[in-house]
Amino acid sequence: MDAQTLASLDRRVPRYTSYPTAPHFGPSVDGARYAGWLAALPGDAPLSLYLHIPFCDSLCWFCGCNTSVVNRYAPVAAYLEDLRAEIGLVADHLDDGRKVAHVHFGGGSPSMLEAGDIAAIGALLKQRFSIADDAEIAVEFDPRGLSPETVAAFAAIGVNRASLGLQDINPQVQQAINRLQPPESNIRAVAMLREAGVDALNLDLIYGLPYQDEAGIAATVDHACSLEPDRIALFGYAHVPGMKRHQLLIPEEALPDTAARFAQAGLAAERLMAAGYRRIGLDHFVRPGDAMARAADLGTLRRNFQGYSADPAATLIGLGASAIGALPQGYVQNASDVPTWRKAVREGRLPVARGIAIDDDDRLRRAVIDSLMCFLEVDLEALGRRHGSAEDFERELARLEPYRAMGLIEINGAQVRVVEPGRPFVRLIAAVFDVRLDAAPARHSRAV
Ligand SMILES: C[S@@+](CC[C@H](N)C(=O)[O-])C[C@H]1O[C@@H](n2cnc3c(N)ncnc32)[C@H](O)[C@@H]1O
Ligand code: SF4
Repeated sequence: MDAQTLASLDRRVPRYTSYPTAPHFGPSVDGARYAGWLAALPGDAPLSLYLHIPFCDSLCWFCGCNTSVVNRYAPVAAYLEDLRAEIGLVADHLDDGRKVAHVHFGGGSPSMLEAGDIAAIGALLKQRFSIADDAEIAVEFDPRGLSPETVAAFAAIGVNRASLGLQDINPQVQQAINRLQPPESNIRAVAMLREAGVDALNLDLIYGLPYQDEAGIAATVDHACSLEPDRIALFGYAHVPGMKRHQLLIPEEALPDTAARFAQAGLAAERLMAAGYRRIGLDHFVRPGDAMARAADLGTLRRNFQGYSADPAATLIGLGASAIGALPQGYVQNASDVPTWRKAVREGRLPVARGIAIDDDDRLRRAVIDSLMCFLEVDLEALGRRHGSAEDFERELARLEPYRAMGLIEINGAQVRVVEPGRPFVRLIAAVFDVRLDAAPARHSRAV
């Protein structure tokens, strides 16, 4: 692709982990409204739980997550006490023993938690919910300093999948992002997890970081593959210093330009596929036979806040500061700052700060966007029928025309298919169906 075309496609668009996207959440959805939504949930539908742990040992300057650095364990312990109170509060709004199909501990770095606290959270979840025997219980770990006690405690509460942040192995890159992580720490963490019986492993890699080059990307991919994970996520570095002030510490002059980012992403993808991984959606690579590959084949793959998921539950309950929940009625987000979140929990109020109720048009557009993001194709007529809508998407089909002319998509009647050269731009194609995008006040990450 020539540099001019590439530059014209490098716009800022959402990652579509939800639709409507988080910048559109507002105060019209509060704890009281959320309580009504919880009460109206169908009794037999399984739930997914997301527990947010917003703490890390040190700050990576590229980080876009909601987290803060702590030097002592006391704030973490205090947070966990309130998190347990929130679990109780939410469970009080649901029937006893609601079935849970999926639990995810995200962060931040849940690797910070001490064994006793992990056991207490696990016991409370078991007491208040009915965790399915085959539930996936996943946790995000920072491999640096991961302790066998922490791993054993998570394994003991049933954790069976772990995601490790690997990012890039080049020391110059690591220096520039304030994240020194010798490959030995990854090898050690993976061995520790396998030893403890946690053998479903994901690794996160990033391209577009300062000083990253193709040789370093190739070495990073080879190192990641040597650890034999089931899944690898390859994210483009989202540089949004206006929103994440600490990213100002990243030397901007050392960031790869659009063409270099595009080349890095392409090289990493080629190498991962040559190593036997199958590409899923925009940024995931999985072993053939993995549940995510099966979900892609069966048409059950989903987009969620972790990216892609094979989790079938329609209701996600978010727990902890800044956690987002997805319910049939809409989205809810807890207060992002710990003191505001804590105050609500201690007063016995659901700590929701914002959200959005969705209507039938949002549901249809979400289905269209999810289909494109997950399967790179959409049958607009079939989805319209399923949603009982007469929307013909005439305006959107016209707006897709330039992408068709560039050879990024094929259009056949009401069927839109993203072809391989278009895959890196699928967010742009999806954005055509986002009627709220023009009004979005927030800054999104680059499409390339
Ligand atoms: C919560 S962290 C994973 C666990 C642990 N905290 C760690 O870093 O190892 C989630 C992942 O998000 C990705 N990430 C964080 N900030 C990002 C950014 N600005 N752009 C792209 N990916 C980012 C990283 O790959 C990171 O591993
Ligand atoms: S990338 Fe992970 S370890 Fe680094 S600051 Fe962000 S959440 Fe913490």
